Amino acid sequence: MAPSLWILSLVVLFMVTGTESAAPRRPVDVPFGRNYAPTWAFDHIKYFNGGSEIQLHLDKYTGTGFQSKGSYLFGHFSMQIKLVPGDSAGTVTAFYLSSQNAEHDEIDFEFLGNRTGQPYILQTNIYTGGKGDREQRIYLWFDPTKGFHSYSVLWNLYQIVFFVDDIPIRIFKNCKDMGVRFPFNQPMKIYSSLWNADDWATRGGLEKTDWSKAPFVASYKSFHIDGCEASVQARLCATQGKRWWDQREFQDLDAYQYRRLQWVRQKYTIYNYCSDRARYPTMSPECRRDRDI
Ligand SMILES: *[C@@H]1O[C@H](CO)[C@@H](O)[C@H](O)[C@H]1NC(C)=O
Repeated sequence: MAPSLWILSLVVLFMVTGTESAAPRRPVDVPFGRNYAPTWAFDHIKYFNGGSEIQLHLDKYTGTGFQSKGSYLFGHFSMQIKLVPGDSAGTVTAFYLSSQNAEHDEIDFEFLGNRTGQPYILQTNIYTGGKGDREQRIYLWFDPTKGFHSYSVLWNLYQIVFFVDDIPIRIFKNCKDMGVRFPFNQPMKIYSSLWNADDWATRGGLEKTDWSKAPFVASYKSFHIDGCEASVQARLCATQGKRWWDQREFQDLDAYQYRRLQWVRQKYTIYNYCSDRARYPTMSPECRRDRDI
């Protein structure tokens, strides 16, 4: 073998083995079809740039959605979304992870549309073992319809973190020691959808969808998935503890991230189930830990 070829194959070998242990903390942007497939109303999804960007269309007949081909136990998942611009009142765009069984686990981002010029609400929720009722609502610090922003979830055995443009907006720590179930053994798929929810979404259902403005269009790109792929039935991840998101630096937020989280909470929170005494006279145990942040 010529020396240059030999060096080349060494480099290639290094790159191949290198991807196993390297830390791909930066999202890798891949086309839609690599990780995802449409779920329903296939004709309401439009593709651009060879499938690296897509649009979901909602009209009075139907919304649409897509889901990951694989199921995952832990990992880092993100996509960039440009929400329905203009009059989006009554519409909801969602990005969530969910397991597919009766006592299911779920990690939700839901974007509640609004009348032109009025702010979207980002609602997040977490279900563990079929129990939800953990809504938090915030306004965003930018107009999410003007450009693409990244929305991501980091999920490991220690915490679930919701990020908006890499700023943590919510953390759900593993409070198993307090008797709170934490998602750890039910693989989840990643989903996104756009649909009409004008019975509750905007100002509690007062603002209805204006169908004369249809179609409502949400745009997506950068379909990053870096998770431990598992069959739907699997209860374990084969590489548990060995991937970058399991490592110490991802087991908790750092001081800078906690400051950012505080900033979001103090300036942008509209609603937090942890402080809703009317609805939940006894505070959920995980809220006690949350309060210390
Ligand atoms: C819509 O705008 C109204 C008025 O500014 C605001 O009260 C509400 O929180 C906004 N968002 C939603 C989804 O209702």
